[in-house]
Amino acid sequence: MSKDDTSWIFWATVITVAAVYIFLKSVFPYLAMVIADKPNPLPMPSMALLMYMFLTILGAVVYISFDDRRLRRFLRPLLVLLIGRGAKGLRAGRTVFLIALPLLMAVSMFRVLVPSAEPPLGLRIQHPTMPGKYERKVNPFRNPGSELIKQFLENSPGNMSKEEARAALVANYIEEGTILYQKNCRPCHGTKADGTGPMARGFRLRPANFTDPGTIATVVEAYALWRVREGGIGLPNDASPWDSSMPRWMEDLSDLDIWKIILAEYHIAGMEPRLPEKHEERE
Ligand code: HEC
Repeated sequence: MSKDDTSWIFWATVITVAAVYIFLKSVFPYLAMVIADKPNPLPMPSMALLMYMFLTILGAVVYISFDDRRLRRFLRPLLVLLIGRGAKGLRAGRTVFLIALPLLMAVSMFRVLVPSAEPPLGLRIQHPTMPGKYERKVNPFRNPGSELIKQFLENSPGNMSKEEARAALVANYIEEGTILYQKNCRPCHGTKADGTGPMARGFRLRPANFTDPGTIATVVEAYALWRVREGGIGLPNDASPWDSSMPRWMEDLSDLDIWKIILAEYHIAGMEPRLPEKHEERE
């Protein structure tokens, strides 16, 4: 490589572009982590990285081609490498370059085409259709029937109105459900039902955050019953690509316990279930 003082612009460009890349790829995630006050580095999305690199290179091209002399100086090292006559070292360098470049392209092409074990980028369908046999299920604890209320009034001291009895009864169910929830579901879904239990970070597909209006608030309670009874294995294929770690509870919890947990789950999250369609209510 010629050592005259005109080749600096070539190397300055190479180093600048490389420095921008290293900054965006390795420094930026930590900077973003500190600024956003997050526990983990926040990598830049690859499309944004591509865009910034494109702008960086575009900037360099504009700067270099702005001036004829600059352009010639920039191209000089490349021309010397490709067609220049000179020392043995240069010829060896050219041979290596001409072999290495196609090889590099072949390797990167291969890496694009080869199937990988990485999780696919496709979006997951979070709420596939529930199986028909769950459609008509109703949470018996949300609106306790007059039979249960009568029982409750008989066993409780003092004079309570029917409405007060109903509220007290539901409060009891919520309490029972909360205990069951904290015992069984908290490790993943978190004490406050916000999906931040101590085990949550171990899963790529994070346990649902019930305080997010996009989860249990958009489904009817029967849907939650299906999901809790049958868990991740009960999901149809279109809920792929990532396997869900949501356990199947039907062997360990009775349906009544699950209904209580569901009641408590909505209560803790401060959410209401979606109401069933009219024709289902009439049945
Ligand atoms: C091992 C971790 C784990 C435990 C324990 C766990 N879950 Fe889950 N749960 C998940 C994951 C992961 C998801 C998200 C993927 C999915 O929808 O299957 C999920 C999803 C759900 C959903 C679906 C939410 C939606 O909007 O689609 C419900 C309902 C649910 N869990 C309820 C419960 C209840 C109730 C318990 C306790 C009885 C429980 N989970 C225990 C991991 C867990």
